[in-house]
Parts: sequence; C-alpha cells; structure tokens
Amino acid sequence: MDSTGTLWLPPANSTIAGEVDPLFHFILYASIVMFVIVVAGMVYFSWRYRRRGADQLNHATTHNTPLEIAWTVIPTILVMIVFVWGFKTFIKMHVAPKDALEVKVTAQKWFWTFDYASGANSVNELVVPYGKPVKLLMSSRDVIHSFFVPNFRIKQDVLPNRYTIVWFEATQPGTYDIFCTEFCGKGHSEMLGKVKVVSDREYAAWIESSSNLGSGLTPEEFGAQLYKTKACITCHTIDGTKLVGPSFKGKFGTTEKFTDGSSALFDENYIRESILQPKAKLVVGYDPVMPTYQGVLKDQQIDALVAYIKSLK
Ligand code: CUA
Repeated sequence: MDSTGTLWLPPANSTIAGEVDPLFHFILYASIVMFVIVVAGMVYFSWRYRRRGADQLNHATTHNTPLEIAWTVIPTILVMIVFVWGFKTFIKMHVAPKDALEVKVTAQKWFWTFDYASGANSVNELVVPYGKPVKLLMSSRDVIHSFFVPNFRIKQDVLPNRYTIVWFEATQPGTYDIFCTEFCGKGHSEMLGKVKVVSDREYAAWIESSSNLGSGLTPEEFGAQLYKTKACITCHTIDGTKLVGPSFKGKFGTTEKFTDGSSALFDENYIRESILQPKAKLVVGYDPVMPTYQGVLKDQQIDALVAYIKSLK
C-alpha cells in the first residue's frame, strides 16, 4: 500500500484506500481532459466565428447528428462508470465484515468519545489494532458532525437520533488525524482527534490499562490528565485566557455570577454540577454550549477533576 502520499492525496493507510484512490484519479483525469476539450473548443470557436461582417449568420449550421450523438453518449458512459464504480465502493465501505471489532463513536460539541466493548472509553483518541477490521457505530448527542480520517479515505456524517456506520482496516501502525467535516458551531475547527493504530499486543495492553485509569497518580495528577484527554482543554484554559468557556485559573472559592441574576460559590458541588448538568447555571458572558459529561466520566474521574481545578491557583 502506498504510504508516502501524492500531490493530491495523503498517504493511504487503510485497505479501502486502494479502491478509493483509483476512482478519485479517474474522476480527476477525466475532468481535466473534459475541461481542456471544452475550454479549447470555446476559445477556438470564439475566434473562428468572430464577427467579421453584416451577413455573418446567413450560413449558420443548424445541427450535426454524429456530433450530437457523440457528446451525449460519451459523457453518459463516463457518468455510468463513475456511478457503478462509486456505488460498489460505497457499499463496501458501509458493510462491515462480521468479525469486525466494534467501537461506539459519540460526537458532541466539540469532541469525540470512543466506547470499547471492554467498557473502556477514550476522548479524542481512537486506539485500534492494525490488520483488523474496525466497525464504527456512530451517533451524535446534539447536531450533525462528520467523522473524517483522510489517511483511511473514510468520511461519514454522524447524526443525532440514529446510527451511522463506517468501517476500516488500518494497514500499518501510526497516528492519523481525525477531523470533523460538518460545520457544527464555534468549536468546529477544534473538534480534532487522532487514531492510534497499534499492534494486537499494545491494543490489549491499552484496553487493560484504561480500565484502571488513574492508578498510581494523585487525584490532582489524574485530574490534570483528564483535563487533556477528556477535552476540557478545548474550551477552558488554566492560564486565565478566555476561550469558548471560562478559564479555570484561580476560580475555586470565588463567586460566579449567572445570567438569571443569581450567583453561587465556585466549590466542589458547583464543579460537579457544571460537568454533569452544564445548563443548570449559565455564567454571564458565555454561550450555553458546554456538553454534558453524564455517562462519559465516572465519579472517580469527576473527583479527580474537582481536585485538579481546586489546585489551579
Ligand atoms: Cu463537529 Cu464540526
């Protein structure tokens, strides 16, 4: 498999890429040939039949049957080739092999959550073994997002209220970008992730270690890790800078003012409530865009985040 990429395409790192790329190139080069023919024809005819005298239009040709058949039949054949070829690949991309490893993908503003059969979960990082088909069962908690891994040549919309499916088989270890390619609001361009493709053994070790996350760490250290891995960092800084959400710096113990005129102490319960029911209290000056982490974070992880935020003086 081509792993260096070309002028047009990034390296191909999945089994389906070998089917997508030839189709892409066929469309690209057919379009270039058509473009040249059409533009050259346009330029030639506008010169050849430029206005030269008053009686110019008297000998105008009305039609040419062979020519008309040609410009109808040739494009029709091209369109049929692209349709049949594209449809076959499309079906292949969406019907996962029976033995595929299944991962549940949840999109929400503005991060990706991956849930594995073992009960492990991860945010913005999909870990998979190479040489094994992986089926993604995807849904959204809010608006339409789109899951795109250029190196795998897969892209699929992720919708609320229904599942969409796409699958891939990575051909070699590596780390590949995940993009959201459906404009989903303020944080759209920040909705980034990585696919980490590892060996079978590393995958098993990762599943094992992610089920006893935080072991050997203090609650503050574990919280600091979660702050990054659970994507809090996308909207909240720890240095006082305002992003989509307020910074966590020096917040603990202060009084927060809300849009309904009320206020509350920024304490442990306030942090917990904000993580699980972000719309309960809306801080003045910010849009109510924080997603709930209900079902994403376990109690022990929330405790660690509380400890971490508390430590940010
Ligand atoms: Cu999610 Cu754009």
